[in-house]
Amino acid sequence: MSTSPVAGLVLDNIRAGYGETVVLDGVSLTLPGKSTLALLGRNGVGKTTLLATVMGHTTLHGGRIELDGRDIARAAPYRRCRLGLGWVPQEREIFRSLTVDENLAVAERAGTGGAPRWSPARVYELFPVLADRRRHYGIQLSGGEQQMLAIGRALMSNPSVILMDEPLEGLAPVIVDAVLAGIERLRREDEAAILLVEQHARLALGVAERAMVLDRGKVVYEGDSRALLREPERLSALMGVEGRAIASTL
Ligand SMILES: Nc1ncnc2c1ncn2[C@@H]1O[C@H](COP(=O)(O)OP(=O)(O)OP(=O)(O)O)[C@@H](O)[C@H]1O
Ligand SMILES: [Mg+2]
Repeated sequence: MSTSPVAGLVLDNIRAGYGETVVLDGVSLTLPGKSTLALLGRNGVGKTTLLATVMGHTTLHGGRIELDGRDIARAAPYRRCRLGLGWVPQEREIFRSLTVDENLAVAERAGTGGAPRWSPARVYELFPVLADRRRHYGIQLSGGEQQMLAIGRALMSNPSVILMDEPLEGLAPVIVDAVLAGIERLRREDEAAILLVEQHARLALGVAERAMVLDRGKVVYEGDSRALLREPERLSALMGVEGRAIASTL
């Protein structure tokens, strides 16, 4: 009897880093199709390295990476994108000398699952602010608009799994709300599985059903987001934040 491939992303016992330097040491995670996982942890514990490893931008020393049941551990980054991975990098990395329209057009690519699901019009519907800026150059956009464009660009490749690296970082509260509303909508509409790296732990735990905390390249928590929200002391201990600082920091 044949079994259908498991939708989503599976990392099994990953060892990865930069050249000989190992940053991630035995990391495993499962992100079932259309689910949402918050990936938390202090600065420098390896969150970006984990996303970069999924995309194929680090040195993989061992372990298995599967996307929708397919082994992608040795695939080139552009292949991983074609196979259904969308990446929203921490530095956003939009094209500054192209307009919003052009940034989205460059990213347009049919997904693997038949008809393309995303178009610039649909991105503009998700983030109406971008529609007003469509003829503006990347360099003219605010941080929040750049972030929305980075998310929109990732969506244009019709991903089944989308990796977001601190999408709320450095944004004013009102812009945080707009970006978060877009992410919430993607989740509600089962658009793709989402791996959400965030320093704003409470916001991320509010969006994602499951959470994982990294510390120095190892998984120190994996479980239900709501359970972690109900245990602020545990959360602050896992995040390495002193008890009294938690309310303002998280
Ligand atoms: N290109 C690189 N070459 C060598 N080492 C790197 C490189 N990028 C990151 N590192 C190291 O890998 C470790 C993990 O860094 P990483 O950027 O993954 O952390 P992070 O959890 O994303 O931190 P932050 O919250 O600050 O974004 C750190 O010790 C960092 O110095
Ligand atoms: Mg990072």
